[in-house]
Amino acid sequence: MSNKETVIVLDFGGQYNQLIARRVRECNVYCEILPYTVDIQKIKDIAPKGIIFTGGPNSVYDETSPHYTPEIFKLGIPILGICYGCQLMAYSLGGVVTPATDNSSSEYGKTETQYNTDDVLFKGLPESGISWMSHRDYISEVPEGFSVTATTAVCPTAAMSCPDKKLYGVQFHPEVNHTENGKSMLKSFLYDVCECKGEWKMESFIDTTVAQLKEQIGDKGVVLGLSGGVDSSVAAALLSKAVGKQLTCVFVDQGLMRKDEGDFVEETFTKLFDMNFVRINCQDEFLSKLKGVVDPEKKREIIGTEFYKVFWGKIRESYGSGFFAQGTIYPDRIESGKGDAAKIKTHHNQVGIPEDIKFESVIEPLKDLFKDEVREVGEKLGIPHQLVWRQPFPGPGLGVRVIGEVTAEKVHILQEADAILRDEMDKCGYSEQMSQFFAVLPGVKTVGVMGDARTYDELVAIRAVTTDDFMTADWAKIPYEILGRVSNRIINEVEHVNRVVYDITSKPPGTVEWE
Ligand code: XMP
Repeated sequence: MSNKETVIVLDFGGQYNQLIARRVRECNVYCEILPYTVDIQKIKDIAPKGIIFTGGPNSVYDETSPHYTPEIFKLGIPILGICYGCQLMAYSLGGVVTPATDNSSSEYGKTETQYNTDDVLFKGLPESGISWMSHRDYISEVPEGFSVTATTAVCPTAAMSCPDKKLYGVQFHPEVNHTENGKSMLKSFLYDVCECKGEWKMESFIDTTVAQLKEQIGDKGVVLGLSGGVDSSVAAALLSKAVGKQLTCVFVDQGLMRKDEGDFVEETFTKLFDMNFVRINCQDEFLSKLKGVVDPEKKREIIGTEFYKVFWGKIRESYGSGFFAQGTIYPDRIESGKGDAAKIKTHHNQVGIPEDIKFESVIEPLKDLFKDEVREVGEKLGIPHQLVWRQPFPGPGLGVRVIGEVTAEKVHILQEADAILRDEMDKCGYSEQMSQFFAVLPGVKTVGVMGDARTYDELVAIRAVTTDDFMTADWAKIPYEILGRVSNRIINEVEHVNRVVYDITSKPPGTVEWE
Protein backbone atom coordinates (compact mmCIF):
# COMPACT_ATOMS: atom_id res chain seq x y z
CA MET A 1 0.00 0.00 0.00
CA SER A 2 1.30 3.39 -0.98
CA ASN A 3 1.70 5.86 1.87
CA LYS A 4 1.16 8.95 -0.22
CA GLU A 5 -2.18 10.44 -1.10
CA THR A 6 -2.84 9.24 -4.66
CA VAL A 7 -5.71 9.70 -7.06
CA ILE A 8 -5.96 7.46 -10.11
CA VAL A 9 -7.15 8.76 -13.45
CA LEU A 10 -8.49 5.72 -15.27
CA ASP A 11 -8.01 6.37 -18.95
CA PHE A 12 -10.80 5.37 -21.33
CA GLY A 13 -9.22 7.09 -24.31
CA GLY A 14 -10.54 10.65 -23.98
CA GLN A 15 -8.66 13.62 -25.30
CA TYR A 16 -8.43 15.55 -22.02
CA ASN A 17 -6.86 12.88 -19.82
CA GLN A 18 -3.62 14.73 -19.16
CA LEU A 19 -5.60 17.86 -18.51
CA ILE A 20 -7.53 16.05 -15.77
CA ALA A 21 -4.22 14.89 -14.27
CA ARG A 22 -2.90 18.40 -14.42
CA ARG A 23 -5.97 19.83 -12.65
CA VAL A 24 -5.55 17.22 -9.91
CA ARG A 25 -1.89 18.25 -9.52
CA GLU A 26 -3.02 21.90 -9.37
CA CYS A 27 -5.09 20.91 -6.34
CA ASN A 28 -1.83 19.60 -4.81
CA VAL A 29 -2.85 15.97 -5.04
CA TYR A 30 -0.55 13.34 -6.54
CA CYS A 31 -2.10 11.59 -9.49
CA GLU A 32 -1.33 8.66 -11.74
CA ILE A 33 -2.93 7.89 -15.10
CA LEU A 34 -3.59 4.20 -15.67
CA PRO A 35 -5.10 2.59 -18.78
CA TYR A 36 -8.55 0.99 -18.47
CA THR A 37 -6.84 -2.35 -19.13
CA VAL A 38 -5.05 -2.24 -15.76
CA ASP A 39 -5.73 -5.16 -13.44
CA ILE A 40 -7.93 -4.22 -10.51
CA GLN A 41 -5.38 -5.76 -8.17
CA LYS A 42 -2.97 -2.97 -9.07
CA ILE A 43 -5.57 -0.39 -8.08
CA LYS A 44 -6.16 -2.23 -4.80
CA ASP A 45 -2.41 -2.22 -4.16
CA ILE A 46 -2.17 1.51 -4.73
CA ALA A 47 -5.20 2.08 -2.47
CA PRO A 48 -5.98 5.50 -3.98
CA LYS A 49 -8.02 8.12 -2.16
CA GLY A 50 -10.15 8.47 -5.29
CA ILE A 51 -10.54 7.42 -8.91
CA ILE A 52 -11.54 9.56 -11.89
CA PHE A 53 -12.93 7.86 -14.99
CA THR A 54 -12.04 9.90 -18.07
CA GLY A 55 -14.06 10.59 -21.17
CA GLY A 56 -13.67 8.47 -24.28
CA PRO A 57 -14.79 8.44 -27.88
CA ASN A 58 -17.08 5.39 -27.70
CA SER A 59 -20.66 4.51 -26.84
CA VAL A 60 -20.93 2.30 -23.75
CA TYR A 61 -23.13 -0.26 -25.52
CA ASP A 62 -20.68 -0.76 -28.46
CA GLU A 63 -19.21 -4.23 -28.23
CA THR A 64 -15.68 -2.94 -28.55
CA SER A 65 -16.01 0.00 -26.19
CA PRO A 66 -13.71 0.09 -23.14
CA HIS A 67 -15.31 -1.20 -19.96
CA TYR A 68 -14.03 -1.96 -16.48
CA THR A 69 -14.94 -4.63 -14.01
CA PRO A 70 -17.96 -3.48 -11.93
CA GLU A 71 -16.03 -4.75 -8.89
CA ILE A 72 -14.39 -1.32 -8.88
CA PHE A 73 -17.66 0.22 -7.62
CA LYS A 74 -17.59 -2.08 -4.60
CA LEU A 75 -14.16 -1.08 -3.30
CA GLY A 76 -15.54 1.81 -1.28
CA ILE A 77 -13.17 4.19 -3.10
CA PRO A 78 -14.80 7.45 -4.27
CA ILE A 79 -15.21 7.61 -8.05
CA LEU A 80 -15.93 10.55 -10.32
CA GLY A 81 -16.95 9.68 -13.88
CA ILE A 82 -16.48 12.34 -16.54
CA CYS A 83 -18.45 12.25 -19.83
CA TYR A 84 -17.96 8.70 -21.14
CA GLY A 85 -16.80 7.80 -17.61
CA CYS A 86 -20.14 9.04 -16.24
CA GLN A 87 -22.09 7.05 -18.82
CA LEU A 88 -20.04 3.96 -18.07
CA MET A 89 -20.79 4.33 -14.37
CA ALA A 90 -24.52 4.66 -15.11
CA TYR A 91 -24.55 1.74 -17.52
CA SER A 92 -22.49 -0.58 -15.28
CA LEU A 93 -24.76 0.08 -12.29
CA GLY A 94 -28.05 -0.52 -14.08
CA GLY A 95 -28.95 2.94 -15.41
CA VAL A 96 -29.95 3.56 -19.01
CA VAL A 97 -27.73 5.23 -21.58
CA THR A 98 -29.65 6.21 -24.67
CA PRO A 99 -28.11 6.57 -28.10
CA ALA A 100 -28.71 9.88 -29.79
CA THR A 101 -30.99 9.12 -32.70
CA ASP A 102 -30.91 12.67 -33.94
CA ASN A 103 -29.03 15.77 -32.94
CA SER A 104 -31.64 16.88 -30.43
CA SER A 105 -29.99 15.13 -27.50
CA SER A 106 -26.32 15.66 -28.33
CA GLU A 107 -24.45 18.69 -27.10
CA TYR A 108 -21.14 20.18 -28.16
CA GLY A 109 -19.45 23.20 -26.65
CA LYS A 110 -20.53 25.76 -24.09
CA THR A 111 -23.87 24.84 -22.57
CA GLU A 112 -26.02 26.57 -19.97
CA THR A 113 -26.33 24.13 -17.07
CA GLN A 114 -28.48 24.08 -13.90
CA TYR A 115 -26.82 22.71 -10.76
CA ASN A 116 -28.22 21.35 -7.52
CA THR A 117 -26.09 23.31 -5.10
CA ASP A 118 -26.93 20.94 -2.24
CA ASP A 119 -24.71 18.39 -3.94
CA VAL A 120 -21.16 18.35 -2.64
CA LEU A 121 -19.63 18.94 -6.10
CA PHE A 122 -21.61 22.14 -6.63
CA LYS A 123 -21.91 23.53 -3.13
CA GLY A 124 -21.22 27.24 -2.89
CA LEU A 125 -21.50 27.71 -6.68
CA PRO A 126 -24.16 29.65 -8.60
CA GLU A 127 -27.24 27.59 -9.50
CA SER A 128 -26.53 27.89 -13.19
CA GLY A 129 -23.46 28.38 -15.33
CA ILE A 130 -21.68 27.36 -18.50
CA SER A 131 -20.31 23.85 -18.79
CA TRP A 132 -18.35 22.32 -21.69
CA MET A 133 -20.20 19.44 -23.28
CA SER A 134 -19.10 16.99 -25.92
CA HIS A 135 -21.46 14.02 -26.11
CA ARG A 136 -24.00 12.27 -28.32
CA ASP A 137 -25.43 9.61 -26.00
CA TYR A 138 -27.08 10.67 -22.78
CA ILE A 139 -28.12 9.09 -19.49
CA SER A 140 -31.90 8.78 -19.64
CA GLU A 141 -32.24 6.92 -16.34
CA VAL A 142 -29.79 7.06 -13.44
CA PRO A 143 -28.99 3.83 -11.54
CA GLU A 144 -30.83 2.98 -8.35
CA GLY A 145 -29.64 5.01 -5.40
CA PHE A 146 -28.45 7.91 -7.60
CA SER A 147 -30.05 11.29 -8.03
CA VAL A 148 -29.74 13.80 -10.84
CA THR A 149 -27.69 16.80 -9.69
CA ALA A 150 -27.45 18.90 -12.85
CA THR A 151 -29.46 19.30 -16.05
CA THR A 152 -29.39 21.28 -19.29
CA ALA A 153 -32.16 22.14 -21.73
CA VAL A 154 -31.58 18.91 -23.66
CA CYS A 155 -29.67 16.69 -21.24
CA PRO A 156 -31.76 15.14 -18.43
CA THR A 157 -28.63 14.02 -16.56
CA ALA A 158 -25.81 16.55 -16.76
CA ALA A 159 -24.58 15.22 -13.40
CA MET A 160 -25.60 12.48 -10.96
CA SER A 161 -24.50 11.32 -7.55
CA CYS A 162 -24.85 8.61 -4.96
CA PRO A 163 -23.23 10.11 -1.86
CA ASP A 164 -23.74 6.91 0.20
CA LYS A 165 -21.42 5.03 -2.13
CA LYS A 166 -19.27 8.11 -2.89
CA LEU A 167 -20.02 7.76 -6.60
CA TYR A 168 -20.33 10.91 -8.72
CA GLY A 169 -20.64 11.57 -12.43
CA VAL A 170 -20.68 14.61 -14.67
CA GLN A 171 -21.66 14.54 -18.33
CA PHE A 172 -19.64 17.71 -19.03
CA HIS A 173 -15.89 18.32 -18.77
CA PRO A 174 -14.98 20.13 -15.53
CA GLU A 175 -11.27 19.94 -16.47
CA VAL A 176 -11.47 22.38 -19.40
CA ASN A 177 -11.36 26.10 -18.76
CA HIS A 178 -14.63 26.70 -20.60
CA THR A 179 -16.53 25.04 -17.76
CA GLU A 180 -17.14 27.82 -15.26
CA ASN A 181 -16.04 26.71 -11.77
CA GLY A 182 -14.90 23.33 -13.16
CA LYS A 183 -11.78 23.41 -11.05
CA SER A 184 -13.82 24.08 -7.95
CA MET A 185 -15.97 21.00 -8.72
CA LEU A 186 -12.87 18.83 -9.04
CA LYS A 187 -11.49 20.31 -5.87
CA SER A 188 -14.70 19.49 -3.99
CA PHE A 189 -14.46 15.90 -5.22
CA LEU A 190 -10.82 15.64 -4.15
CA TYR A 191 -11.07 17.39 -0.80
CA ASP A 192 -14.63 16.78 0.38
CA VAL A 193 -15.42 13.39 -1.12
CA CYS A 194 -11.96 11.75 -1.27
CA GLU A 195 -10.80 13.64 1.84
CA CYS A 196 -7.44 14.47 0.30
CA LYS A 197 -5.35 16.94 2.28
CA GLY A 198 -3.55 18.40 -0.74
CA GLU A 199 0.02 18.09 0.46
CA TRP A 200 1.60 17.24 -2.90
CA LYS A 201 3.94 19.87 -4.38
CA MET A 202 6.13 20.19 -7.48
CA GLU A 203 9.07 19.40 -5.19
CA SER A 204 7.49 15.98 -4.74
CA PHE A 205 7.49 15.51 -8.52
CA ILE A 206 11.19 16.34 -8.52
CA ASP A 207 11.98 13.95 -5.64
CA THR A 208 9.97 11.09 -7.14
CA THR A 209 11.39 11.58 -10.64
CA VAL A 210 14.97 11.85 -9.40
CA ALA A 211 14.55 8.63 -7.40
CA GLN A 212 13.05 6.84 -10.42
CA LEU A 213 15.83 8.09 -12.71
CA LYS A 214 18.50 6.91 -10.25
CA GLU A 215 16.97 3.48 -10.11
CA GLN A 216 16.46 3.19 -13.86
CA ILE A 217 19.89 4.47 -14.90
CA GLY A 218 21.89 2.64 -12.21
CA ASP A 219 25.58 3.05 -12.97
CA LYS A 220 25.13 3.48 -16.73
CA GLY A 221 25.61 6.61 -18.78
CA VAL A 222 22.89 8.86 -20.17
CA VAL A 223 23.19 11.30 -23.03
CA LEU A 224 20.93 14.26 -23.72
CA GLY A 225 20.77 16.68 -26.63
CA LEU A 226 20.68 20.13 -25.05
CA SER A 227 19.30 22.87 -27.28
CA GLY A 228 19.27 25.66 -24.73
CA GLY A 229 15.46 25.66 -24.80
CA VAL A 230 13.35 25.32 -21.66
CA ASP A 231 12.43 21.65 -22.01
CA SER A 232 15.84 20.14 -22.68
CA SER A 233 17.35 22.43 -20.02
CA VAL A 234 14.91 21.26 -17.36
CA ALA A 235 15.41 17.62 -18.37
CA ALA A 236 19.18 18.17 -18.09
CA ALA A 237 18.87 19.70 -14.63
CA LEU A 238 16.69 16.82 -13.39
CA LEU A 239 19.06 14.20 -14.77
CA SER A 240 22.04 16.03 -13.33
CA LYS A 241 20.39 15.93 -9.90
CA ALA A 242 19.78 12.21 -10.33
CA VAL A 243 23.05 10.93 -11.78
CA GLY A 244 25.55 13.84 -11.91
CA LYS A 245 28.56 13.04 -14.07
CA GLN A 246 26.95 9.95 -15.58
CA LEU A 247 25.01 12.52 -17.66
CA THR A 248 26.55 13.93 -20.84
CA CYS A 249 24.80 16.85 -22.47
CA VAL A 250 25.67 17.48 -26.10
CA PHE A 251 25.09 21.03 -27.26
CA VAL A 252 25.45 21.73 -30.98
CA ASP A 253 26.22 25.40 -31.57
CA GLN A 254 25.47 25.97 -35.24
CA GLY A 255 26.11 29.70 -34.95
CA LEU A 256 22.45 30.49 -35.49
CA MET A 257 21.50 31.28 -31.89
CA ARG A 258 20.82 34.72 -30.51
CA LYS A 259 23.65 36.99 -29.38
CA ASP A 260 25.85 35.33 -26.71
CA GLU A 261 23.31 32.56 -26.20
CA GLY A 262 25.71 29.68 -26.81
CA ASP A 263 28.09 31.02 -24.16
CA PHE A 264 25.25 31.56 -21.72
CA VAL A 265 24.05 27.96 -22.09
CA GLU A 266 27.58 26.63 -21.62
CA GLU A 267 28.20 28.78 -18.58
CA THR A 268 24.89 27.84 -16.97
CA PHE A 269 25.34 24.12 -17.32
CA THR A 270 29.03 23.92 -16.55
CA LYS A 271 28.87 26.20 -13.49
CA LEU A 272 25.51 25.40 -11.94
CA PHE A 273 25.08 21.71 -12.63
CA ASP A 274 27.11 18.57 -12.23
CA MET A 275 27.44 16.85 -15.63
CA ASN A 276 29.69 16.43 -18.64
CA PHE A 277 28.93 19.28 -20.99
CA VAL A 278 30.08 18.90 -24.58
CA ARG A 279 29.78 21.90 -26.89
CA ILE A 280 30.28 21.30 -30.58
CA ASN A 281 31.14 24.52 -32.37
CA CYS A 282 30.26 24.08 -36.01
CA GLN A 283 29.26 27.53 -37.22
CA ASP A 284 31.51 27.34 -40.26
CA GLU A 285 30.20 23.95 -41.41
CA PHE A 286 26.60 25.12 -41.22
CA LEU A 287 27.30 28.37 -43.03
CA SER A 288 29.18 26.63 -45.81
CA LYS A 289 26.28 24.21 -46.32
CA LEU A 290 23.87 27.17 -46.47
CA LYS A 291 25.96 29.10 -48.99
CA GLY A 292 23.86 30.25 -51.92
CA VAL A 293 20.65 28.64 -50.58
CA VAL A 294 17.59 30.91 -50.49
CA ASP A 295 14.59 28.58 -50.46
CA PRO A 296 13.13 28.43 -46.90
CA GLU A 297 12.27 24.72 -46.96
CA LYS A 298 15.69 23.88 -48.42
CA LYS A 299 17.36 25.89 -45.66
CA ARG A 300 15.32 24.07 -43.00
CA GLU A 301 16.20 20.75 -44.54
CA ILE A 302 19.92 21.54 -44.69
CA ILE A 303 20.02 22.79 -41.09
CA GLY A 304 18.05 19.72 -39.91
CA THR A 305 20.23 17.26 -41.82
CA GLU A 306 23.47 18.90 -40.76
CA PHE A 307 22.34 18.95 -37.14
CA TYR A 308 21.52 15.25 -37.33
CA LYS A 309 24.93 14.45 -38.81
CA VAL A 310 26.95 16.48 -36.33
CA PHE A 311 24.96 15.46 -33.26
CA TRP A 312 24.80 11.74 -33.93
CA GLY A 313 28.37 11.72 -35.28
CA LYS A 314 29.57 12.91 -31.88
CA ILE A 315 27.42 10.44 -30.01
CA ARG A 316 28.43 7.55 -32.23
CA GLU A 317 32.07 8.41 -31.64
CA SER A 318 31.91 8.79 -27.86
CA TYR A 319 28.64 8.16 -26.07
CA GLY A 320 26.52 5.68 -28.00
CA SER A 321 25.40 3.38 -25.19
CA GLY A 322 23.49 3.54 -21.93
CA PHE A 323 20.38 5.70 -22.10
CA PHE A 324 19.24 8.49 -24.38
CA ALA A 325 17.21 11.27 -22.80
CA GLN A 326 14.91 13.84 -24.39
CA GLY A 327 13.04 16.86 -23.08
CA THR A 328 9.73 15.78 -24.65
CA ILE A 329 6.77 17.38 -22.88
CA TYR A 330 3.12 16.44 -23.03
CA PRO A 331 2.00 18.86 -25.81
CA ASP A 332 4.81 17.48 -28.06
CA ARG A 333 3.27 14.03 -27.79
CA ILE A 334 -0.16 15.35 -28.76
CA GLU A 335 1.19 17.34 -31.67
CA SER A 336 3.23 14.53 -33.12
CA GLY A 337 0.04 12.43 -33.08
CA LYS A 338 -1.86 14.87 -35.28
CA GLY A 339 -0.29 13.62 -38.46
CA ASP A 340 -2.48 14.87 -41.24
CA ALA A 341 -2.37 18.63 -40.76
CA ALA A 342 -1.36 20.35 -43.97
CA LYS A 343 2.37 20.96 -44.09
CA ILE A 344 3.03 24.67 -43.79
CA LYS A 345 6.67 24.41 -42.79
CA THR A 346 8.90 21.68 -41.47
CA HIS A 347 9.57 21.92 -37.73
CA HIS A 348 12.40 19.86 -36.42
CA ASN A 349 12.43 19.07 -32.72
CA GLN A 350 12.54 15.37 -32.09
CA VAL A 351 15.51 13.63 -33.59
CA GLY A 352 15.11 9.95 -34.46
CA ILE A 353 17.94 7.72 -33.29
CA PRO A 354 20.08 6.26 -36.14
CA GLU A 355 19.68 2.50 -36.39
CA ASP A 356 23.32 1.69 -35.69
CA ILE A 357 23.29 3.44 -32.30
CA LYS A 358 21.88 1.17 -29.63
CA PHE A 359 20.62 2.64 -26.40
CA GLU A 360 19.05 0.72 -23.52
CA SER A 361 15.99 2.92 -23.88
CA VAL A 362 14.80 6.50 -24.24
CA ILE A 363 14.10 8.47 -21.07
CA GLU A 364 11.60 11.35 -21.15
CA PRO A 365 11.25 12.63 -17.58
CA LEU A 366 8.92 15.52 -18.52
CA LYS A 367 6.61 13.65 -20.85
CA ASP A 368 3.47 14.17 -18.76
CA LEU A 369 3.96 17.82 -17.89
CA PHE A 370 2.59 20.95 -19.50
CA LYS A 371 4.89 23.85 -20.35
CA ASP A 372 4.10 25.96 -17.30
CA GLU A 373 4.65 22.95 -15.04
CA VAL A 374 8.02 22.37 -16.72
CA ARG A 375 8.90 25.99 -15.98
CA GLU A 376 7.92 25.53 -12.34
CA VAL A 377 10.20 22.48 -12.10
CA GLY A 378 12.99 24.47 -13.78
CA GLU A 379 12.66 27.31 -11.26
CA LYS A 380 12.72 24.84 -8.36
CA LEU A 381 15.87 23.23 -9.75
CA GLY A 382 17.64 26.60 -9.83
CA ILE A 383 17.82 27.17 -13.59
CA PRO A 384 18.27 30.92 -14.27
CA HIS A 385 15.05 32.87 -14.84
CA GLN A 386 16.18 33.95 -18.31
CA LEU A 387 16.42 30.32 -19.42
CA VAL A 388 13.28 29.08 -17.69
CA TRP A 389 11.23 31.85 -19.30
CA ARG A 390 12.98 31.67 -22.65
CA GLN A 391 10.58 32.19 -25.53
CA PRO A 392 10.09 29.48 -28.10
CA PHE A 393 12.95 29.52 -30.57
CA PRO A 394 12.81 27.64 -33.86
CA GLY A 395 15.12 24.66 -34.31
CA PRO A 396 16.77 26.25 -37.40
CA GLY A 397 17.38 29.37 -35.28
CA LEU A 398 18.30 32.61 -36.99
CA GLY A 399 18.64 30.61 -40.21
CA VAL A 400 14.92 31.23 -40.77
CA ARG A 401 15.03 34.85 -39.60
CA VAL A 402 17.68 35.84 -42.10
CA ILE A 403 15.54 35.77 -45.21
CA GLY A 404 17.33 34.52 -48.31
CA GLU A 405 20.95 33.41 -48.17
CA VAL A 406 22.42 33.11 -44.67
CA THR A 407 25.88 34.64 -44.23
CA ALA A 408 28.01 35.30 -41.13
CA GLU A 409 27.62 39.08 -41.65
CA LYS A 410 23.85 38.92 -41.87
CA VAL A 411 23.61 36.69 -38.79
CA HIS A 412 25.77 39.19 -36.92
CA ILE A 413 23.56 42.16 -37.90
CA LEU A 414 20.46 40.26 -36.86
CA GLN A 415 21.97 39.18 -33.52
CA GLU A 416 22.83 42.80 -32.69
CA ALA A 417 19.40 44.14 -33.68
CA ASP A 418 17.62 41.36 -31.80
CA ALA A 419 19.69 41.98 -28.65
CA ILE A 420 18.65 45.66 -28.66
CA LEU A 421 15.01 44.71 -29.10
CA ARG A 422 15.20 42.29 -26.17
CA ASP A 423 17.01 44.82 -24.01
CA GLU A 424 14.36 47.51 -24.59
CA MET A 425 11.48 45.09 -24.09
CA ASP A 426 13.04 43.85 -20.83
CA LYS A 427 13.60 47.39 -19.57
CA CYS A 428 9.96 48.39 -19.93
CA GLY A 429 8.65 45.09 -18.58
CA TYR A 430 7.05 44.08 -21.87
CA SER A 431 9.00 40.89 -22.56
CA GLU A 432 6.88 38.58 -20.49
CA GLN A 433 3.64 40.03 -21.85
CA MET A 434 4.57 38.84 -25.33
CA SER A 435 4.27 35.21 -26.36
CA GLN A 436 7.21 35.73 -28.70
CA PHE A 437 9.11 38.65 -30.21
CA PHE A 438 12.20 38.88 -32.35
CA ALA A 439 13.94 40.72 -35.16
CA VAL A 440 14.03 39.56 -38.77
CA LEU A 441 16.47 40.52 -41.51
CA PRO A 442 14.41 40.47 -44.70
CA GLY A 443 17.45 40.94 -46.95
CA VAL A 444 16.03 44.12 -48.44
CA LYS A 445 18.12 47.24 -48.89
CA THR A 446 16.51 50.66 -48.85
CA VAL A 447 17.69 54.22 -49.36
CA GLY A 448 18.07 56.50 -46.36
CA VAL A 449 19.83 59.62 -45.25
CA MET A 450 22.21 59.83 -42.30
CA GLY A 451 24.36 62.89 -41.48
CA ASP A 452 23.33 64.51 -44.78
CA ALA A 453 24.66 61.58 -46.74
CA ARG A 454 22.76 58.98 -48.72
CA THR A 455 22.73 55.47 -47.30
CA TYR A 456 21.72 52.25 -48.97
CA ASP A 457 21.49 49.65 -46.23
CA GLU A 458 19.62 46.77 -44.65
CA LEU A 459 16.05 46.81 -43.37
CA VAL A 460 15.24 45.17 -40.01
CA ALA A 461 11.70 43.99 -39.22
CA ILE A 462 10.35 43.58 -35.71
CA ARG A 463 7.84 40.81 -35.04
CA ALA A 464 5.91 40.43 -31.77
CA VAL A 465 2.89 38.22 -31.19
CA THR A 466 0.48 37.19 -28.47
CA THR A 467 -1.10 33.76 -28.59
CA ASP A 468 -2.30 30.92 -26.39
CA ASP A 469 -1.21 28.03 -28.55
CA PHE A 470 0.80 29.36 -31.54
CA MET A 471 -1.78 27.84 -33.91
CA THR A 472 -3.24 31.31 -34.28
CA ALA A 473 -1.62 34.53 -33.12
CA ASP A 474 -2.32 38.22 -32.98
CA TRP A 475 0.31 40.88 -33.65
CA ALA A 476 1.15 42.61 -30.39
CA LYS A 477 0.09 46.21 -29.84
CA ILE A 478 3.42 47.44 -28.51
CA PRO A 479 3.27 51.15 -27.59
CA TYR A 480 4.75 53.46 -30.25
CA GLU A 481 7.27 54.92 -27.76
CA ILE A 482 8.85 51.53 -27.24
CA LEU A 483 8.93 50.80 -30.95
CA GLY A 484 10.44 54.24 -31.47
CA ARG A 485 13.23 53.62 -28.96
CA VAL A 486 13.99 50.21 -30.48
CA SER A 487 14.12 51.68 -33.98
CA ASN A 488 16.41 54.56 -32.92
CA ARG A 489 18.81 52.31 -31.14
CA ILE A 490 19.00 49.72 -33.91
CA ILE A 491 19.69 52.35 -36.57
CA ASN A 492 22.27 54.13 -34.41
CA GLU A 493 24.01 51.13 -32.94
CA VAL A 494 23.89 48.43 -35.60
CA GLU A 495 26.13 49.01 -38.56
CA HIS A 496 24.55 48.51 -42.00
CA VAL A 497 20.94 49.04 -40.85
CA ASN A 498 19.14 52.25 -41.90
CA ARG A 499 15.44 51.35 -41.52
CA VAL A 500 13.19 49.47 -39.08
CA VAL A 501 9.62 48.32 -39.75
CA TYR A 502 7.00 46.62 -37.54
CA ASP A 503 5.15 43.53 -38.75
CA ILE A 504 1.39 43.90 -38.20
CA THR A 505 0.27 40.55 -39.60
CA SER A 506 -1.75 38.06 -37.59
CA LYS A 507 -1.54 34.27 -37.95
CA PRO A 508 -3.29 33.34 -40.16
CA PRO A 509 -2.69 34.64 -42.77
CA GLY A 510 0.97 35.07 -41.72
CA THR A 511 2.94 32.54 -39.73
CA VAL A 512 4.87 33.63 -36.64
CA GLU A 513 8.26 33.15 -38.27
CA TRP A 514 8.89 34.68 -41.67
CA GLU A 515 10.21 31.45 -43.17
P1 XMP B 1 5.05 29.37 -37.19
O1 XMP B 1 6.11 30.16 -37.88
O2 XMP B 1 4.88 27.99 -37.74
O3 XMP B 1 5.61 29.18 -35.72
O4 XMP B 1 3.76 30.12 -37.05
C1 XMP B 1 4.88 28.70 -34.63
C2 XMP B 1 5.84 28.52 -33.47
O5 XMP B 1 6.78 27.48 -33.78
C3 XMP B 1 8.11 27.97 -33.75
N1 XMP B 1 8.86 27.29 -34.80
C4 XMP B 1 9.63 26.22 -34.58
N2 XMP B 1 9.91 25.55 -33.45
N3 XMP B 1 11.30 24.07 -34.64
C5 XMP B 1 10.75 24.51 -33.49
O6 XMP B 1 11.04 23.92 -32.46
C6 XMP B 1 11.07 24.68 -35.82
O7 XMP B 1 11.59 24.28 -36.86
C7 XMP B 1 10.19 25.82 -35.78
N4 XMP B 1 9.72 26.68 -36.74
C8 XMP B 1 8.90 27.57 -36.10
C9 XMP B 1 7.98 29.46 -33.95
O8 XMP B 1 9.10 30.17 -33.43
C10 XMP B 1 6.70 29.75 -33.21
O9 XMP B 1 6.92 29.79 -31.82
